[in-house]
Amino acid sequence: MLVPTEQLLQHARQDRYAVGAFNVYTLEAVRAVVSAAEESRSPAILQVLPKALELGGTALIALCLEAARTAGVPLSVHLDHCSSADTIETALEAGISSIMADGSGLPYDRNLAFTRQMVDLTLSRGKSVEAELGRLSGSEDGMTVARRDACLTDPAQAEMFADQSGVHALAVCIGNVHGTYHAPPQLDFKRLAAIADRVRIPLVLHGTSGLPDAMITRAVALGVCKFNVNTELRSAGMAAGAAYLEEAYKPELVERMQVEVNAMRQPVMAKIGLFGSAGKAS
Ligand code: 13P
Repeated sequence: MLVPTEQLLQHARQDRYAVGAFNVYTLEAVRAVVSAAEESRSPAILQVLPKALELGGTALIALCLEAARTAGVPLSVHLDHCSSADTIETALEAGISSIMADGSGLPYDRNLAFTRQMVDLTLSRGKSVEAELGRLSGSEDGMTVARRDACLTDPAQAEMFADQSGVHALAVCIGNVHGTYHAPPQLDFKRLAAIADRVRIPLVLHGTSGLPDAMITRAVALGVCKFNVNTELRSAGMAAGAAYLEEAYKPELVERMQVEVNAMRQPVMAKIGLFGSAGKAS
């Protein structure tokens, strides 16, 4: 069943669990997320990056929306990391449930101005907005401690940003990175607790792939309501598809697709368990 993202996140915040937002590029990934969510009786978010949208067009959003509508658990569809007003407009026109207005690469004032503009655009269509404060890198390699700290979310600024922007969810940077962690992850939980203390909207953590289980459950306990998961999901699918092609005597496309669905279901099921969202579908 297709539901607003805001509804999913507010329920998670009240009940102190988190919803997984899984990046999907293909039909196989959509099937994997929907079937894992259904089996776990868990809500979930199907999430599309602008890069995937460039290739798939609005048909990719339509696929996600239809998969959500026909699913036996509550699902929404979200546009991830978007800094283009045009792309956000296109996604909203296509009926997407929520968007991330990503001005995190901009100075505070310009991030705020862009985010407010996107909140106006999105709210007029009854949809919701996530923004990010702080800067999430793809890697921490070569960063000095001072530089790393400068990229992390400041709790007082987060409170001000949430109030001034009118966003519905805020992604925070506490040492999380996108993609592979090249060194053991170091999340600043003290900072997360301070942010959660001041910010009254659902908090989001990006860069979930590669985080130790204990860090995920601790972040949930401290108030993270949405986790973004990409790398673990797509690596599982790509590795399984490649292994199938190597091993199959007479490869069949639908068989390969099914192998990929099965492989991508595993990390989704595991993450749903850690997020505490299993059984929350009702
Ligand atoms: P990972 O690829 O590290 O799971 O991060 C996903 C993400 O944050 C997408 O916005």
